[in-house]
Amino acid sequence: MRTPLVAGNWKMNKTVAEARELVSKLNVPMREIANVEKVLCPPFTSLPALSAMLAGSDIGLGAQNMHWEEKGAFTGEIAPGMVKEFCRYVIIGHSERRAYFGEMDANVNRKLHAALKFDLIPIVCVGETLDQYESGLTSEVVRRQISLGLADTDPAFATRLVVAYEPVWAIGTGKASSGENANTVLAQIIRPALSDLFGMEIAQSIRILYGGSVTASNASEFFTQSEIDGALVGGASLKADEFIGITKAAAQ
Ligand code: PGA
Repeated sequence: MRTPLVAGNWKMNKTVAEARELVSKLNVPMREIANVEKVLCPPFTSLPALSAMLAGSDIGLGAQNMHWEEKGAFTGEIAPGMVKEFCRYVIIGHSERRAYFGEMDANVNRKLHAALKFDLIPIVCVGETLDQYESGLTSEVVRRQISLGLADTDPAFATRLVVAYEPVWAIGTGKASSGENANTVLAQIIRPALSDLFGMEIAQSIRILYGGSVTASNASEFFTQSEIDGALVGGASLKADEFIGITKAAAQ
């Protein structure tokens, strides 16, 4: 059995004061939802404050990105050891990093290895753009992102991995994939690609999330699918009621 996981990716939103305010609304209701792993990924600047607020709760923190090197002359970057001070999770290879900051599969792979070395739980994002989707390239693109992004991962660590399938055309557009379509990609493309790398038994234990315009009202459509083990939530994670609703749906 794979424990469902719901992660909120706040992206570049919220000052420390705003982050505290949101967490003060989430903290108690989220604690009451059992059998779901809950993760908040605020901007780096809010991590210290939120880690203090969430001490002793079962809500984990994640970073939205990190560098793979342990330290050195990399102006503006955050090292894995710095992330580890506050977080259990790290999002790697989000499509916005790929599209706006030139992140390639090779760097996704370096970050993944750094995350595993530092005992972080990596949430590796994959997904095709609208053009690729319309050209029938979903399978090719997603398979490549998995085989290159996850290359050379020790199978002993692979069970810790989380993969998020986020079709780029569904992110922030309000046009979510259908649950059925997302489930088909997971069943026919992602789980088999994981099996090629790690074998079927390990592939079956790896959690795969769906991301892209998930809301409290459409969440159950995804969570009732056999292959979907949770969600990576952007816009709706900025609203307490929405995120609580999504987390409750994952618990059912
Ligand atoms: P969205 O973003 O929920 O706003 O579509 C999802 C994501 O980028 O992870």
